[in-house]
Amino acid sequence: MKNAVLFVLTIVTALTITAQTTTEALQYASDGELTAPKNYRQRIYLSSGLGMTYGPAAQAGAANPKFDNVFVNPTSWRAFNVTGQWPDKTTFVLEVRSATSHGSINNGGQYQNELLGLEVEVKDEKRFPQKWAFFAFEAGDKTAPLPANSACNTCHSQNGAVDNTFVQFYPTLLEIAKKKGTLTPAYLQKSSAGGGAAK
Ligand code: HEC
Repeated sequence: MKNAVLFVLTIVTALTITAQTTTEALQYASDGELTAPKNYRQRIYLSSGLGMTYGPAAQAGAANPKFDNVFVNPTSWRAFNVTGQWPDKTTFVLEVRSATSHGSINNGGQYQNELLGLEVEVKDEKRFPQKWAFFAFEAGDKTAPLPANSACNTCHSQNGAVDNTFVQFYPTLLEIAKKKGTLTPAYLQKSSAGGGAAK
């Protein structure tokens, strides 16, 4: 009996690990193009921005703000909780959606509507010489990494609070990074000069 229970437990664990790897694995074509991750909504949700205006995907007028939702792969999220750092193979997905206020019983405020685009950011030290690569899926579900000197790479490496990523906008992760002392010197310097978020 005991052996049977152990056997079942082993199978369940193996299946869980397989499912997890399948959910997290990325698919690259032989020319290096990445296929848009289909099941990114099974990843860990970090936070949402509304009408943030910093780059191409969010060029929204104040009258027509867009939402963005940020997801990260569970294995890297668990590692970040322990170390405050992103391990190799960390993958972020930023989903952009339109905002609307008219529908059903809603009388005020805004909620999320149509999917407008996906942006992906991957840390893969073997595949990319600059470690992190950025992908913008505008039309179609396959795309090549943006060049290492793209606006994505530059803005993220100069302004991201932890290793090219905008942890300063994800409240639960910011607390961890502060405790683990992994915020970049550039971010700490800017925020002590009046940037606010690192208090
Ligand atoms: C001018 C600065 C800037 C540029 C350029 C920029 N981003 Fe970002 N990005 C941000 C900020 C700020 C956030 C975090 C806030 C949010 O949107 O929720 C972010 C978040 C992200 C995230 C979520 C993970 C993270 O790093 O926090 C992804 C994925 C992402 N951007 C991809 C891209 C891609 C792909 C491009 C280029 C097509 C790009 N970004 C260009 C500023 C920028």
